[in-house]
Amino acid sequence: MARHFLTVSDLSRDELVAVLDRAAELRELRGTPAHPQPLQGKSVAVVFEKASTRTRLSFEVGIHELGAQPVTLISKDTQLGRGEPIEDTAHMLSRYVHGVVYRTFGHDRLETLARHATIPVVNGLSDKFHPVQLLADLMTIRQHFGPSLEDARVAWIGDGNNMAHSWIASAAVAGFELVLACPSGYQPDEEVLCGARERGARVRLVERPEEALDGATVVTTDVWASMGQERETAERQRAFAGFIVDDAAMERADSEAIFLHCLPAHRGEEVSASVIDGPRSRVWDEAENRLHTQKALLEWLIA
Ligand code: CP
Ligand code: NVA
Repeated sequence: MARHFLTVSDLSRDELVAVLDRAAELRELRGTPAHPQPLQGKSVAVVFEKASTRTRLSFEVGIHELGAQPVTLISKDTQLGRGEPIEDTAHMLSRYVHGVVYRTFGHDRLETLARHATIPVVNGLSDKFHPVQLLADLMTIRQHFGPSLEDARVAWIGDGNNMAHSWIASAAVAGFELVLACPSGYQPDEEVLCGARERGARVRLVERPEEALDGATVVTTDVWASMGQERETAERQRAFAGFIVDDAAMERADSEAIFLHCLPAHRGEEVSASVIDGPRSRVWDEAENRLHTQKALLEWLIA
């Protein structure tokens, strides 16, 4: 039975730590003759139903560096985009490639793909979760504060979206403390919260950003309107007033606090230019770490 990675909860804590440790090793080995090619002779499909820059680049480059052939499909140019069933797509992909990364809308589409595929399926972002981003975020936290993730206190400021859900799921696996400040009506999914709490996550929901920021060692946010929500942009801008991560917000956090953002960012909306381009921002390390962590993940899933 193939293992899949649809949410961070698909990994145990030991597996998560092993992937993050391996990512750090692969980072050191990158560009040297000692860099391994454990996927030599294999192929991995990367399928997009939504736009992407980082996910496409980091998977294509990473798959190549592991010795395999990346095959990128933009869904609208495929039969999947013309309504071919996901079940049939799963059977067909399983005969050609050794793994598939899939970026889609409804999380149920990923679950259907995973149910019918005999190869590992990796979530490249769904409306519910963006777990590969969290691997990179956790690697960045470790680079800054050391290996013990349990000591981190993460403040999420903004929408209770796929990234917020991924932080919640990760809190249960990695053991850090998480406080989310989301405007009323934009809170995370109750089922995601309950599931994580049942698995021991230390997660609190608060109403005001200040309540999340006090004592935070990691401050993070995301766009106010995610892909597919563009028509709600004006309404969301009104609802999220006061939820910008600016210098005053960072001042409330721990004096050593770092700022993370999955990107792309909207300067002047969810984050000020002074913060994202400032000394506490680790967003470029975070983006780079997509490459290392996904290579470690694919090696673990496919090799
Ligand atoms: N963070 C992230 O997934 O970026 P892309 O949408 O550019 O892939
Ligand atoms: N929440 C954002 C993340 C983009 C990487 C979206 O889904 O559009």
